[in-house]
Amino acid sequence: MRRVPTGVTVVTTLKDGEPRGITVNSFASVSLDPPSLLVCVNREARSYLFISSSRIFCVNVLAGDQRRLADHFSGRVRERQFADVDYTVDTTGSPVLGGTIAHFDCALSHEYQVGSHSIFIGHVLACSARSGSPLGYFNGGFHDFGIHVE
Ligand SMILES: Cc1cc2nc3c(=O)[nH]c(=O)nc-3n(C[C@H](O)[C@H](O)[C@H](O)COP(=O)(O)O)c2cc1C
Repeated sequence: MRRVPTGVTVVTTLKDGEPRGITVNSFASVSLDPPSLLVCVNREARSYLFISSSRIFCVNVLAGDQRRLADHFSGRVRERQFADVDYTVDTTGSPVLGGTIAHFDCALSHEYQVGSHSIFIGHVLACSARSGSPLGYFNGGFHDFGIHVE
C-alpha cells in the first residue's frame, strides 16, 4: 500500500455535542445514484465509536498546506481536538474544516466489518469543492503532487 498514492482527508463527526476527527486516506467514491462514498476506519480508533453511533460524518479533503491538520488528527491530540481548529458546519452538524479543497457531508448508510476495520458507506447529503492543491500521501509520507485546480 506504500506504493499507492492517495489524497489525505480528515473524517469528522459530532456525537452528543462533541466534535471528533480522524485522519483517513482510505477514501473512495462508491456510487453516483444515490451519491455514496466509503472510508475505512480501524475499530480500535477512538473515532470509530463516534462515527458508528452518531451515524453522520463529513469527509474533508486536505489542501497541500494542511499537513499540520493531518498530524493533529492522527492521534496527536486526544482531548478537545477542536479547541484551536477553524470549522463551520453544513447539513449534518459534523465539522467542515476551513481551508480544505472539498468536503462531503454524509449520513452513514451502511457499515461492513472486515477484519480490524469497518467500511463506512456514506450517503452524501451536501458537498462543495474549492480551488487549490491537494495534500498527497505516498510511501509513508506527505507529498505535494504538484497539481492545482481552479
Ligand atoms: C495519512 C494517514 C492516513 C490514515 N488513514 C487511516 C485510515 O484510512 N483509516 C484508519 O482507521 N486510520 C487511518 N490513519 C490512522 C489514524 O489517523 C490514527 O490511527 C488515529 O490516531 C486514530 O484516531 P483516534 O484518535 O480516533 O484513535 C491514517 C493516518 C495517517 C497519518
